[in-house]
Amino acid sequence: MRTIIEPFRIKVVEPIRMTTREERRGLIAEAGFNPFRLKAEHVLIDLLTDSGTGAMSTAQWAGVMEGDESYAGARSFFQFEAAVRDVFGHRHVIPTHQGRASERLLCAAAVNDGDVVPGNTHFDTTRANIEAVRAEARDLKLPEAADPENEHPFKGNIDVESLAATIQQVGRDRVPFVLITVTNNSGGGQPVSMSNLRAARQVCDRWGIPLILDCARFAENAYFIKLREPGFGAKAPIEIAREMFSYSDGAVMSMKKDAFGNIGGGITVNSDEWAERIRTHLILTEGFPTYGGLAGRDLSALAVGIREILDEDYLRYRIASTAYVGSHLNAAGVPLLKPYGGHAIFLDGRRFCRHLRDEQLPGWSLSVALYEQVGVRACEIGNVMFGRPRADGGGWDWPTLDLVRLAIPRRVYTQSHMDYVVEGIIELFGQRESIQGLRFVHRPAVLPHFTATFAPAEP
Ligand code: F0G
Repeated sequence: MRTIIEPFRIKVVEPIRMTTREERRGLIAEAGFNPFRLKAEHVLIDLLTDSGTGAMSTAQWAGVMEGDESYAGARSFFQFEAAVRDVFGHRHVIPTHQGRASERLLCAAAVNDGDVVPGNTHFDTTRANIEAVRAEARDLKLPEAADPENEHPFKGNIDVESLAATIQQVGRDRVPFVLITVTNNSGGGQPVSMSNLRAARQVCDRWGIPLILDCARFAENAYFIKLREPGFGAKAPIEIAREMFSYSDGAVMSMKKDAFGNIGGGITVNSDEWAERIRTHLILTEGFPTYGGLAGRDLSALAVGIREILDEDYLRYRIASTAYVGSHLNAAGVPLLKPYGGHAIFLDGRRFCRHLRDEQLPGWSLSVALYEQVGVRACEIGNVMFGRPRADGGGWDWPTLDLVRLAIPRRVYTQSHMDYVVEGIIELFGQRESIQGLRFVHRPAVLPHFTATFAPAEP
């Protein structure tokens, strides 16, 4: 059989409300042409993020009912600890309320003023947390990553030669750890190969530097290794995941992605010294070390989720259903980032809207048009998110790629929802010249995309 079905059936449903194009035109204008400022109830299909938006299973909901809400030493914590340790293998398992809390705690425990943290591509909150302790987050991408058409099977890899050169240049003492993000979200949801992790490990060993994984989407990464890397085709996702973690000394994780959590995170380390410091900081802001800012019921649901995500039927469906969206758009000539990511498809804003200049924010304008025309909410990862006005006041520095991410929540939408999305985007592509460019009205200096407002730009 070629048809890949959703490997679950639906027991609880949540209605979504249809809106007309006229209504949406008014709503997005009221929201300052910023999809983040829309009310979620006015969105038909919400592809803003795959974070915290997944559907929990019956077993997870049973875990919620059985959650132990004791302040210290709750049964839910021990379930969580056992499930995480079974996959990650690290000695200390510390829950946090979400990924960025883990990043903050790791930076507080291990990063000093003036340090450099090399990585494949740091996610924006990771970068912000590294910069908050006055260190530098340095991205060492493969050269292939700059070309949206390049089909490198592991475009998320870290450039191992640049890694060695960076450590040599800045000195071992200023590199507290190397951080590899699996899958590489900011690089387009692209996987990192096992051989790349192994090679990075060897470089780290040469200088005695710890290797940490940012593993929000570790199971999707494991499945890509199974599909694309020689020697892994017959292995179970859990074996592959365990091998990935075996090259690391610790991990930070947003459990709102590949643990099917609506909230939650974790940090794991082998070092007793780091664990001690992390727990001390955790008590100041997150809570006691056996709940880390979560309810016991959340910990129980995550303990179930982290096992469920490694189910091979689920992962086959997940990767195939994301690629389904990509291949149908591609067949219609819609410009995309390739190969297709695990959690999202990325439209190429500049090539979609060739009639718009960078100042007219092509990717952002496309995301607004997509909402207006079809009621789909997506997220620009491009000129608005990363563009910076030059210090001398003479124009802007724009990022290499101006993308629009269609992030697919886990177990939430069916194939007909995705058919609707594909049809809507193809229709919009047919009339792309009509997409109106936008300009900033208000641009906050930090993380502008969340709250900025816009108006139609001069043609
Ligand atoms: N690391 C990666 C790779 C992420 O994708 C995210 C979040 C985080 C860390 C931070 O985790 O949100 O739980 O604090 N990514 C979301 C996204 C927000 O939409 O891609 P968090």
